[in-house]
Amino acid sequence: MSATAPSPVIHAFAPPERLLAGPGPSNVDPRARAAMERPLVSHLDPVFWDRLPILADMIGRYYGRADGASLCLSASGTSGMEAGILNLVAPGETVVAASAGFFGNRIIEMLRRRGAEIVEVRAPFGQHVPNDEIMAAVAAHPHAVMVCVVYAETSTGVQHPLAELGAMLRASDSDALLFADCVTAIGGIPIEADAWGVDYAYACSQKCLAAPPGLSPITLSSRAIERLGRDGMPVPYSLDLAEHLRFWADRPMTYHHTTPNLHYYALDEALRLGLEEGLEARITRHAAAGAHLQTGFRERGFDLLADPARQLPQLTAVRVPDGVDGRAVQVELLHTHGIEVGGGLGPDAPPIWRVGMMGVNAEPEVAERILAGFDAILPAGAH
Ligand SMILES: Cc1ncc(COP(=O)(O)O)c(C=O)c1O
Repeated sequence: MSATAPSPVIHAFAPPERLLAGPGPSNVDPRARAAMERPLVSHLDPVFWDRLPILADMIGRYYGRADGASLCLSASGTSGMEAGILNLVAPGETVVAASAGFFGNRIIEMLRRRGAEIVEVRAPFGQHVPNDEIMAAVAAHPHAVMVCVVYAETSTGVQHPLAELGAMLRASDSDALLFADCVTAIGGIPIEADAWGVDYAYACSQKCLAAPPGLSPITLSSRAIERLGRDGMPVPYSLDLAEHLRFWADRPMTYHHTTPNLHYYALDEALRLGLEEGLEARITRHAAAGAHLQTGFRERGFDLLADPARQLPQLTAVRVPDGVDGRAVQVELLHTHGIEVGGGLGPDAPPIWRVGMMGVNAEPEVAERILAGFDAILPAGAH
């Protein structure tokens, strides 16, 4: 473009209101969004320092963590996953990794890039890897330093029996750390990191917490903290958890990175609102809304992917009936009804829709709106 050409008019981006009923993000709680309008203070402002321990305490409450430390990374859940692997596993160390879906596979891929010796234990999509199989792998590899599992597998809607795995691991001779993906779990189903022996867990801001995407609340046990900063463990500076712990705990504050404070305000407010509601009440609300949606799909003759005994409330994977173009249904739901639902994730996924009941959306009326959208596109008998 020449210097004298008139500048094109670029209109402001004006995204429509959608019902975000996919695997995440979910709709942001308006009160969390309003918190982003508060005055920006810098990451080195003492007012902000004073708030961080309160934010850390709230994150710890969601995780059931009193022993250890909790904080959030200025990055999405993927970085929470990667930070745990890079800080707790040295190249060449053995890790037992369970996978029954896309995110279990992603953990394995990150371990591969780390140069870990990976002992994979797998189950098909829709199932979970039985804890006996995980423990057999641990027994066969006594030097394993970590066991990885996805507590709430968003690609399938399956909940792993994490409490039982923690109890079995602690009762064994292994001193492997327990690493749990809690991205879809946090704020939607119970997590008791201390009681279950979860050493490292990470999550995201954008699903059952109903805050904007971009932050990853994490938690470490004191055992995990002791393993940080070992010799021969190069960790990228931005994900160095020892540095993050210093930033969150040392006063006067030492600079690590410029935190996106408006997002921190939103997460802080979302967590505060959840505690005001009561975590138990919030979990009950997610359970009821998920059951409502799942009953509605079953009544309409749809099959659900997950083993019913392990079905998550907040994520329902619905099998696309034979002869139906699943992608076309998604497009019509979005454009005609303003409803976003997800499709299958990754090359191994069967044809499914993934429907979220997360955060502010975990309400029976929202479930009814989603079901009505499906009814409009696929009337009874059309599938
Ligand atoms: C189970 C699970 N783990 C990890 C991630 C990655 O999180 P993010 O997309 O916030 O990076 C997701 C995202 O949906 C997820 O569902």
